[in-house]
Amino acid sequence: MIIAIDGPAASGKGTLSRRLARHFGLRHLDTGLTYRAVAAALLANGLPLGDEAIAVEIAHNLDLAQMDKSVLASHEIGEAASRIAVLGGLRKELVDLQRRFAEKPPGAVLDGRDIGTVVCPDATVKLFVTASAQARARRRTDEMIAKGQEANYVSVLEDLKRRDERDSQRTVAPMKQAEDAVLLDTTEMDIETAFQAAVDIVSRA
Ligand code: DC
Repeated sequence: MIIAIDGPAASGKGTLSRRLARHFGLRHLDTGLTYRAVAAALLANGLPLGDEAIAVEIAHNLDLAQMDKSVLASHEIGEAASRIAVLGGLRKELVDLQRRFAEKPPGAVLDGRDIGTVVCPDATVKLFVTASAQARARRRTDEMIAKGQEANYVSVLEDLKRRDERDSQRTVAPMKQAEDAVLLDTTEMDIETAFQAAVDIVSRA
């Protein structure tokens, strides 16, 4: 069983994916972390984000078990990840890795931007999780404030819009809802309601 979850930044797809995996006894991969891990390695070594050969080599040697979400969560790494995500050769390398993860029993929940369209086109069930840019910016701002970080709603909103634009307009594997994906718009939902809605969609499938 493979559950494919796509959607824009800060849509809540990460939390939903983790909870769905726990609920259905599946493994979980946040594929955004694979792009973030490659970006972080390039940044840490002062390497240019456009160097595809090096990015591919880093991706080839990536160990999923070593990816640390807390280290990779920064805004700078997220931006860099979105920039290198346009490189076709890098995507191919990471998609291979993600597919190998998905195919191991008992199955998995994968979340990202191109899971239903490219990584797992034959997934058992596909969700496209979204929310208005304003709702996502509000949640992201509250999250940052709760962590004691400085956050400005207007600049968070602008960043999210820029990232959505880049992720959905790139030529290779742009973020888009797969034709057979179920749309889950969480603008008016809290996390519990969204989780129940997601469980219902998966159970029906
Ligand atoms: O979901 P995230 O914020 O961790 O993702 C960081 C960037 O990685 C995102 O802006 C675009 C890229 N990405 C991608 O292109 N394809 C995926 N399946 C996951 C992430």
